[in-house]
Amino acid sequence: MNHDMELAYLGIEVPDPSSLTPFFGTAIGLLPGEPGGAGVATWRNDDKAHRLIVRSGPANDAVFLGLEAVDDDAFDAVRDRLERAGCTVNDGTPDDLDSRRVRRLMRTMSPWGVDVEVVSGLQGATTPFASALMPGGFLTTDVGFGHAVFATAAFDEGHDFLVGGLGFEQSDFLEMELVPGLDLDVRFYHCNARHHTIALAKAPFELPQRLHHFMVETNDRDDVGAAWDRVWATDLAIANGLGRHDNDGMFSFYVTSPAGFQVEVGHGGRVITDPWLDNRRYERISAWGHQPVKR
Ligand SMILES: [Fe+2]
Repeated sequence: MNHDMELAYLGIEVPDPSSLTPFFGTAIGLLPGEPGGAGVATWRNDDKAHRLIVRSGPANDAVFLGLEAVDDDAFDAVRDRLERAGCTVNDGTPDDLDSRRVRRLMRTMSPWGVDVEVVSGLQGATTPFASALMPGGFLTTDVGFGHAVFATAAFDEGHDFLVGGLGFEQSDFLEMELVPGLDLDVRFYHCNARHHTIALAKAPFELPQRLHHFMVETNDRDDVGAAWDRVWATDLAIANGLGRHDNDGMFSFYVTSPAGFQVEVGHGGRVITDPWLDNRRYERISAWGHQPVKR
């Protein structure tokens, strides 16, 4: 396992960024990030300047994601690999560096239609992360913000991009019949010790929203329970109740955001070892739980 990159941030575009403030702040327990400029709201789950960048616009979806290379050599190696794989790579502008609060940035388009920004030197926040709602904090050291799962018709192209272009390794994959006649295919990819930083679900056609969910992992299992209680007390839809995934072992639940994508709050995900010899097929999403509970 090469520890080359971590999920630095996720960029989301919604008509009104402030509409997500109660959701991220009060329900999930994130903290506001460093100021993001006019019409931009930022959020963080650790000591970095920002982990979510929410801008105003019509997409109602994730529009970019940042991957932080662990050092300059890793940054340059990713660039070489992307170009060898035939990807068009553009250098970030000074405005990009300012808005993303990074020292270096290059951008390429993923096959699933979300810009991928490889960055280095993501700035720290001006204050330590301390959330009364998440007293144990989030697990991000050496593994980044969390993970993101996209649904796409460009499933095989996405695989080639992640493995051949960005240098991810496939952790394992899920193939099951979700309901009679409807198959679910998901592939999970790592770039550090987190079981997956990106996963791709096969879609029969491009969906209006590519981002299925993103996940944040708590240090303390009880903080998942406290978040569950907070979410339960709201009108938010709970896409999947508490459960434990079969492949990454994550104890988690999924709440649907006001923008439609989901957020998974989890604890205790499986750690990737080096070498990774367990890339295999799973036939069920969860060992237990994760039932749809509240619409
Ligand atoms: Fe997940």
